[in-house]
Amino acid sequence: GIDISKLFASTGYVTLDPSYGNTGSCKSAITYIDGDQGILRYRGYDIAELCEKSTFMEVSYLLVYGELPTPEQFTRFKDKVQHHSLIHEDMKSFFTAYPGHAHPMAILSAMVCSLSVYHPELLKSDPTPKEMSQTITRLLSKVRVLAAFAYKRSVGEAFVYTKPKLDYVANFLHMMFTNPVEDYEVDEVIRKALDVLFIIHADHEQNCSTSTVRMVGSSKANLFAAISAGICALWGPLHGGANQMVIEMLEDIAKDGCNYKKYIDKAKDKNDPFRLMGFGHRVYKNYDPRAQIIKKHCDELLDQLGINDPILEIAKGLEEAALTDPYFIERKLYPNVDFYSGIVYRAMGIPTNMFTVMFALGRLPGWIAHWKEMIEEPGTRIARPRQIYVGSPQRAYVPINRRR
Ligand code: ACO
Repeated sequence: GIDISKLFASTGYVTLDPSYGNTGSCKSAITYIDGDQGILRYRGYDIAELCEKSTFMEVSYLLVYGELPTPEQFTRFKDKVQHHSLIHEDMKSFFTAYPGHAHPMAILSAMVCSLSVYHPELLKSDPTPKEMSQTITRLLSKVRVLAAFAYKRSVGEAFVYTKPKLDYVANFLHMMFTNPVEDYEVDEVIRKALDVLFIIHADHEQNCSTSTVRMVGSSKANLFAAISAGICALWGPLHGGANQMVIEMLEDIAKDGCNYKKYIDKAKDKNDPFRLMGFGHRVYKNYDPRAQIIKKHCDELLDQLGINDPILEIAKGLEEAALTDPYFIERKLYPNVDFYSGIVYRAMGIPTNMFTVMFALGRLPGWIAHWKEMIEEPGTRIARPRQIYVGSPQRAYVPINRRR
């Protein structure tokens, strides 16, 4: 019954844990990770089993509401998500105001925050369960539409809306790749592979972007604002932005004659800021189970689509070279979720600058689930870390004309 944080605060003690390597920020019943064993479970279900037997929509429901849905609950949930896919017409002009080369993550975060303007009824800090559910289904539906619109803007094509008969993931592919002059049939192999990728990304407990969503949400800022902040946090190359950087790195290695040793030596050099992108993880000190599943799917997808992507061979070559190097062995650095995902996105025809957007779409139900868990937890206080002050002691003000 003792609240340690309050007890410490009352005695004047502060725990110093830069970058939160060993600080639990909350209790959570959503995702379990065992980083030494390489285990990941959502609400108790193993990630590999969910990828094999479930769908992204079902996993979204599971994460947000805590249980797998009954058939009736699932139909209602999917219908609501489909129903809310329209974007206010005014918002379309926002897209055209961006230059064509704008990064889609910048557009997506701004658009998600802007959505709040069009749904003032959903901005209550203490929503009823019904209002909560309305906000959640709207966000799940609209963020995917905004992401597809951001892509359409970048290639200068007209926006495409969802079709009621397609599922969530198929609709995303339809909005991305349908254009007025070409028929686009969603390929089942691609749809299934994307569904699995979204499941794999759906949650990962208190990672940087999820902690950002919780941090912003703890001030009672609305969910749109909190998710928009989470998207910005995800964009960084040490987090979700790594999936774009991995492909760019593998392309550089290809151009450089596949000299793996050169890149591994560069990553080991402490005077060089370069890191092997897609390697290492704060929690996993074993093979990231998500990377294992993606690697398998990557092989299968390329095989089924008859694609021979030399980048896959380079990725495998680099992995082998790194995993036999004492530096990587000692530090337990293995491929993470971002190492192989970009190769799958490439095979689907998704451009490199959209990779982190794909991650955001997958992570969305996880962010929402954590926000919901936080605001429903009785007694949640605003997140407000302390610090150890290391600046100057008190000193007298010097007027500008006497400063040297
Ligand atoms: N390449 C080379 N060295 C690395 C790498 C890497 N990719 N990752 C970690 N190291 C080294 C560090 O230099 C450090 O070495 P030292 O002990 O000699 O100082 C040691 O391994 C521990 O690394 P930290 O930086 O302390 O680990 P941290 O938990 O803070 O960082 C991170 C984890 C950010 C994922 C890191 O491994 C990294 O930068 N990886 C590359 C970027 C990446 O792939 N990010 C995606 C992560 S997954 C996700 O967010 C979805």
